[in-house]
Amino acid sequence: MEPLVLYVDNDIASLVVFESSVEGWLPFRTATNGAEALEILSSHEIGVLLADRQACTGPGLDLLELARKEHPDTIRVMLAPPSEVDRAVEFVDRGTVHHFLCKPWDALELRLSLDSAMERYKTTRRLRELESRLLSTERVYALGKVAAEIAHEIRNPLGALVSNLQIAESRLNEVRRELEAQSDPRLLAKLHDLERILADCAEATDSILEITRSVESTTRSSCEAVWVDLEEVVRTSLRSLQKNAGHQLIEVITTKVPPVRGSRTQLAQVVTNLVVNAIEATRAVEGDDPRLSVRVWHEGGRVFLEVKDRGPGIEPEHLDRLFEPFFTTKTEGGTGLGLAITRRIVEKHGGKISVESQPQMGASFVVELPAAVES
Ligand SMILES: Nc1ncnc2c1ncn2[C@@H]1O[C@H](COP(=O)(O)OP(=O)(O)OP(=O)(O)O)[C@@H](O)[C@H]1O
Ligand SMILES: [Mg+2]
Repeated sequence: MEPLVLYVDNDIASLVVFESSVEGWLPFRTATNGAEALEILSSHEIGVLLADRQACTGPGLDLLELARKEHPDTIRVMLAPPSEVDRAVEFVDRGTVHHFLCKPWDALELRLSLDSAMERYKTTRRLRELESRLLSTERVYALGKVAAEIAHEIRNPLGALVSNLQIAESRLNEVRRELEAQSDPRLLAKLHDLERILADCAEATDSILEITRSVESTTRSSCEAVWVDLEEVVRTSLRSLQKNAGHQLIEVITTKVPPVRGSRTQLAQVVTNLVVNAIEATRAVEGDDPRLSVRVWHEGGRVFLEVKDRGPGIEPEHLDRLFEPFFTTKTEGGTGLGLAITRRIVEKHGGKISVESQPQMGASFVVELPAAVES
């Protein structure tokens, strides 16, 4: 939304002249006193506060000082009669206002001054956005490094576990051969149990190994890029997620898509994080219709993945914070890292992720990736 200019003056004639000077050129609001102006400041995005000095200071209220403390990014411009120029300069020196204009103002001067003040405000706003993006990227990166170190340290004991499991498996084979010779059904049944338990342990260690590998590769600046069929990634990821989904119905709509270039494991992480969130959001949804759908399609050289659910949706004030590391509304078990990691992976693949949602209307996350041109 476009930021506004807020003009505060208790002189109605000045307000009328101001309105006719800026109408159709800059969006604005007006106020006749400090209290009214404060209310507008807290309910609208005000880029420039243009205030008549007398109108904004009253008993117990100093609008410009309050604006400086509570809305430091708003550019404050004071209007003062020529006889008060010295005081106006003091205000600038103290940092209460950024600059001042003499009243009555010259229309052209007012226009130029508001234009440059608004430009300055927008630049500050852009900088703030960049700062917060940078901060969030740095936090994910730092966290990724710690995770990679832990993953690395887990590898050694895990290696011992894997080789011991292999030894145990071959010993059991020997025992099996001997028991088969004795044909004792009771002991053979026990052996079968042991073999099954061992196979489950081997499967679990394989997954831990795969996770440690992918955590390590996420932090490497470049991962080995291969041609990846996103449709296949979706189908494979959903096969293992179906277990978590329980009775929830997942609708899958996919078409053949061109490959994207990147890491299969990381793209599977993207699908998993989005689908797990959708499964968690729709646990309480009733009825036999699918509670979430996963769609893959391509359009104009881009491959799209949409994960859409019929859950409770997302509060508007949370929408901007979803991709921040550690932002979670889950009281149990949520780390708030799923979407932060997801966005990092998507951006690393040259893509982007967006979300649309309204409370009680479900949520839809769309990932867009560049289709690779095979040479
Ligand atoms: N499909 C969705 N419907 C409603 N809210 C969602 C959905 N997906 C994400 N959210 C909101 O975004 C927040 C952040 O999601 P994210 O995946 O980053 O973390 P998490 O799910 O809380 O924790 P973790 O992923 O570590 O288990 C969630 O806590 C939830 O409030
Ligand atoms: Mg999550």
